[in-house]
Amino acid sequence: MKTKAAVLYEAGKAFEIEELEIVRPDAEEVLVRYDYSGLCHSDLHMVKGHLPFRAPMVFGHEGAGEILEVGSHVTGFAPGDHFVASFYPVCGRCRWCATGNSRLCDLGANGLEGFLPGGRFPFTGRNGDYGSMMTLGTFSQYATVHRNSIVRIDGDLPLDKAALVGCGVPTGWGSAVNSAEVRPGDTVVVYGIGGIGINAVQGAAYAGAQHLVAVDPAPNKLEYAKRFGATHTAATAAEAQELVRQLTHGVGADSAIITVDELVADVVAAAAEVISKGGTVVITSMGQYEDETIRLSGVQLALWGKRIQGSLYGGCNPLYDIPKLLSLYRTGHVKLDELITNVYSLEQVNQGYDDLMAHRNIRGIIAHEH
Ligand SMILES: NC(=O)c1ccc[n+]([C@@H]2O[C@H](COP(=O)([O-])OP(=O)(O)OC[C@H]3O[C@@H](n4cnc5c(N)ncnc54)[C@H](O)[C@@H]3O)[C@@H](O)[C@H]2O)c1
Ligand SMILES: [Zn+2]
Ligand SMILES: [Zn+2]
Repeated sequence: MKTKAAVLYEAGKAFEIEELEIVRPDAEEVLVRYDYSGLCHSDLHMVKGHLPFRAPMVFGHEGAGEILEVGSHVTGFAPGDHFVASFYPVCGRCRWCATGNSRLCDLGANGLEGFLPGGRFPFTGRNGDYGSMMTLGTFSQYATVHRNSIVRIDGDLPLDKAALVGCGVPTGWGSAVNSAEVRPGDTVVVYGIGGIGINAVQGAAYAGAQHLVAVDPAPNKLEYAKRFGATHTAATAAEAQELVRQLTHGVGADSAIITVDELVADVVAAAAEVISKGGTVVITSMGQYEDETIRLSGVQLALWGKRIQGSLYGGCNPLYDIPKLLSLYRTGHVKLDELITNVYSLEQVNQGYDDLMAHRNIRGIIAHEH
């Protein structure tokens, strides 16, 4: 079966739209049709050369659609089912899954090499084998994916909104609710209001933050943050520091969540400064893999009991959190409709990322044609 997909050959280049052949699903795999795919900043870290990947690769790791065919050993899914693609698979059996840390599942290890669990590459084309980002490749009309990478959802949910629950929503929401452990009455600072940060804002607001300070140099992002529950906004970390000092009478914030596009040492230092004794800095942002982006006094961390917490997938378990977030969407407690700021065709994927970098999007999405 053929598909049209957005492929990256090397860092610094644009995505190329190419026709590829999809490998037939094996016993544990499913053939899917992607209807929508979100444009997350993580793909750009490969484009910018921050994170290594095996080329050629079909990009995109935030998607939803319909199951077309299931492998002979696949249970729990049937053709016609709707699904959300989870950017990290869950095997349910490895040490990490078995101890409640499914976001670290061993099956996710080859996400940037792009071969399916079992070793096969999901696509072939004029340049041989093609991998898929996070073994999903949602910038493709169709794909073969592992059963552990998809979560079945109710058929009546809108798939464009559901797609965002495969990465951006749980990552941001969970950065606040799980990794920062925001509690009622907390003071929370979120640095960077994109598709991830806006969900950290709505997670922190739902968890009961009293003072919720959104920081972003782009004024339109701060307007969005207010609509999602931010009580205060700041254009710079220095402004946020002063706001928090006033709001907490000099005590400091309970937590600071970093969701800027590119992790740099200055933001980590500002976040470590803005929190109180016993406070937590959550690092969710990606950036240049080799850079030392934490430069802090370890003695100060020890003396004041501060915590620096790395966060992948917001500490979420897709099997639990994807249905929960969609249920909260149904009852109006989680906003998804308002996250989508632009819709693109697959051919417009590079335009979509230009818009992301120009701060024109909270989340842009690709609507696939079939
Ligand atoms: N840890 C994970 O599991 C995970 C998952 C998905 C994405 N990410 C990462 O999260 C980050 C955010 O992704 P996104 O899709 O929301 O990006 P985005 O481009 O939509 O948003 C980033 C925002 O950060 C703002 N910003 C830049 N520098 C800033 C600064 N110094 N202070 C305050 N704000 C600043 C930008 O103006 C922009 O609004 C990326 O690095 C992405 O790779 C991590
Ligand atoms: Zn993502
Ligand atoms: Zn596992």
